[in-house]
Amino acid sequence: MEKKRFALLTSGGDSPGMNAAIRAAVRKCISMGIEIYGINHGYRGIFEKDLRPMSRYSVADIIQRGGTILYSDRCDRMMDSDGPAEAAQILSEYEIDSLIVIGGDGTYKGAEALAKCGVKVMGIPGTIDNDIACTDSTIGFDTAVNTALDAISRIRDTTNSHNRINIVQVMGRACGNIALYSGLAGGAEAICVPEIPYDPDEIAQRVITGKNKGKLHCIIVFAEGAGDINALCKALEEKTSIETRQTVLGYTQRGGSPTAFDRILASTMGAMSVTLLSQGEANKAICLKNNKYISTDITQAVKMQRVFDKSIYELAMVLSI
Ligand code: F6P
Repeated sequence: MEKKRFALLTSGGDSPGMNAAIRAAVRKCISMGIEIYGINHGYRGIFEKDLRPMSRYSVADIIQRGGTILYSDRCDRMMDSDGPAEAAQILSEYEIDSLIVIGGDGTYKGAEALAKCGVKVMGIPGTIDNDIACTDSTIGFDTAVNTALDAISRIRDTTNSHNRINIVQVMGRACGNIALYSGLAGGAEAICVPEIPYDPDEIAQRVITGKNKGKLHCIIVFAEGAGDINALCKALEEKTSIETRQTVLGYTQRGGSPTAFDRILASTMGAMSVTLLSQGEANKAICLKNNKYISTDITQAVKMQRVFDKSIYELAMVLSI
């Protein structure tokens, strides 16, 4: 049987757990006698021929590390009409017949384009945003929620000492899941997400009602895609006459040691990507759906729209009265 050679890359915004997925894919390949190359800097590394064989030592001592040892970058060349064909040609020159990509929706779109050029691809959902609809969880989301929650708990202390409002902005692009989950877990008085328009007057009323009931502080978790945090901060201070501050968590959510959940998710998906490719399955996206690991057609995965879970939002509002 001819020797198989796979390749692996990470692309888009990095996320905690990507290294655990890399480690699992490499070691699963080694256990099956399959060569695997690591491509640096996402799809850009294909065009720059920046790739190298991976050994078990290449992935030693990385399961606990945030970030990605293969680096990550955006790649404009892949957006050109002839970019994917050129990338496919370069991969074939290295006798690489299968490519595992770890990233978000943009990464999946690149993989889909390569599949159309004959490359066998397998997608692993790696992004803190949790905005890939075909899977219940993306690698890095749980860690980002816990990072945000740790910050919210710290901010809660000082907000309580000074009887203030603090609006905490989290990442997520156009998806409100980090805000939703960290807000519920952090006991936020209000959560602003892109999926549900918010009314500053309604929030101000919630704050005043809470204060009249004896609440000494107010935490509002604000998804970056929900709107203008500065405008809301100003409006709430004017409408409630309570000192209002804001905290933007930014890139702290993109790093840090992955949680056990993300390490297990990443390790399982990394190994599964190799198993499926070795069995001839290709052009799929690996998903965790209702606690089961499945694969779905990558073209379908790219098209699927995530359904916002309004029940979690409503629960958070009920519990924070
Ligand atoms: O997609 C992950 C993410 O962290 C988003 O939540 C955020 O808006 C974006 O990446 C930031 O992108 P960049 O790293 O290119 O500044």
